[in-house]
Amino acid sequence: MNTNSHHEELQRLEQEASSRAGAVQSAEELRRVESSLLGKDSPFGGLLKHLKSLPPEQRGAFGQAVNGAKARIKALLEERLAALESAAARTEDDAARAFDPTLPGAQRPLGSVHPVTAVQWEIERIFVRLGFTIEAGPEMESEHYNFEALNIPADHPARDMQDTFWLKNGKVLRTHTSPVQVRAMHKFGAPLRTLVPGRCFRYETIDASHENTFHQVEGLMIDRDISIANLIALAKLLLSEVMHREVELRIRPGYFPFVEPGIEIDMNCQICGGKGCPTCKHSGWVEILPCGMVHPNVLRAGRIDPEAWTGFAFGLGLTRLAMMKYGIRDIRVLNAGDLRPLVGARRLTGPIIKG
Ligand code: PHE
Repeated sequence: MNTNSHHEELQRLEQEASSRAGAVQSAEELRRVESSLLGKDSPFGGLLKHLKSLPPEQRGAFGQAVNGAKARIKALLEERLAALESAAARTEDDAARAFDPTLPGAQRPLGSVHPVTAVQWEIERIFVRLGFTIEAGPEMESEHYNFEALNIPADHPARDMQDTFWLKNGKVLRTHTSPVQVRAMHKFGAPLRTLVPGRCFRYETIDASHENTFHQVEGLMIDRDISIANLIALAKLLLSEVMHREVELRIRPGYFPFVEPGIEIDMNCQICGGKGCPTCKHSGWVEILPCGMVHPNVLRAGRIDPEAWTGFAFGLGLTRLAMMKYGIRDIRVLNAGDLRPLVGARRLTGPIIKG
């Protein structure tokens, strides 16, 4: 090796020192780098041997180059050590400052169930007591169960009553829980008492009282002599128990292809107590329980003989009922990520709502 290539070696060593020192994260690691760069077995050993073999007139210049490189590497390592030490001191300082034993502990709020779930559970308990089973059905439903089996053929204008999300696979997001009526008939036959809480979807423009995703509870009771009087009695019991007070009902005719006769049961507005407010559109009443006597065609679709059996069905607006019960005026908070209005609504108003 000639002297030129030894100068190159020196340069390379300096570069190596700078990149290795920059990469270390602790003083200890840095010491290891230092001993491999400058220690006994380091490349500097070989360079010093070379120095001895040089003619005396060249030794001075080469010796200076070697010492210069060594000194610069040393300085660089020292600088890095100082930087590491001050960073470590800063972290310690921060840690000492971050822990203040005089501050109150972090609050961990207790979890609570969603208002819709709370009301759903309450309703389930009431109906289990009355001998109903609790069923579920698919949210992605076939056209058959969502419409046809419910006496809504493809060309029926009632298809437009519910704006539907049609899926590419030809199925729909169920627009109501009613499809589970026929599913339950297939599963159990008659007599039958079943309750189906579930999520439904409609292609709606969202505002304070409309959501594209909401909850209903379907009720279905089939037996030998079921009449509309059973239905109305049950509706009164259900709504009064959920609201923990006697509610007033208003009964109107209603039209749904899967019931005959169809009725709408309204409840006096629990937000304003019936005086009129934006929630009840100033009428004092809210539609809460569309229902009716199961249409013979639906019983037939469920393979139940309409000559031998009668039944009623209802489709409770669970989301709306939860809003009434907890005084939630804007439906959008129910599906939003912000939990504060939900917890607040339940804490402040409890089961009985004042205007
Ligand atoms: N499925 C109907 C709806 O969502 C409600 C309903 C259910 C009406 C059962 C009558 C009987 O609009």
